[in-house]
Amino acid sequence: MFSSRIESLHILEAACWQELQRAATDRRHGWRLMTLATVNGDEADARSVVLREARRGPQELVFYTDARAGKVQQIARQPKGTLVMWSRELAWQLRLRVQLSVDTDGPDVAQRWAEVRRTRSAADYLAGVAPGSELPTPLVPERASREHFAVVTARVLSIDWTELHEDGHRRAIFQADHATWVQP
Ligand SMILES: Cc1cc2nc3c(=O)[nH]c(=O)nc-3n(C[C@H](O)[C@H](O)[C@H](O)COP(=O)(O)O)c2cc1C
Repeated sequence: MFSSRIESLHILEAACWQELQRAATDRRHGWRLMTLATVNGDEADARSVVLREARRGPQELVFYTDARAGKVQQIARQPKGTLVMWSRELAWQLRLRVQLSVDTDGPDVAQRWAEVRRTRSAADYLAGVAPGSELPTPLVPERASREHFAVVTARVLSIDWTELHEDGHRRAIFQADHATWVQP
């Protein structure tokens, strides 16, 4: 938490990544639940996803999904997306332009699944039918014979930061080679 207002763009960018890393491990952090917007043909789509990891060096965020989910098909067709998150505690919104990629096998996926399968959320990746399939009843269908666990990496292309404050709202944009304050 930052009690005084940050004046330096450099420090602000570092603070954003510090908060993203905190959000990946703190269930109460507002940024833990992100809205992911994707392109679905000629329409927009959006849904909530949970931040699992933030890596400042490669500028990457990670979330998990069912490999059969609609968003995975959308990402295969158009890998550009936007992540939006809001922390009431910080009064900070982030809008991140991201390049998305989906992994369903390999050592990293295997290691993450080994951890997830011991938790209650393992069921999210073990449904007998794909997400969005019509069901005859509201009851949860049988488990699949194998998991459909996928790791989605969102490489951050730009950060659009907005702070709401009683002394005046502020906004800044960080891109690969350029950082600037902008009118909110
Ligand atoms: C609080 C909350 C957290 C969620 N977290 C995830 C998540 O981490 N990954 C995910 O794929 N879906 C998550 N969902 C479900 C998605 O929002 C969405 O309903 C589902 O993935 C189907 O989306 P799609 O058809 O666009 O793929 C979450 C839903 C809620 C309400």
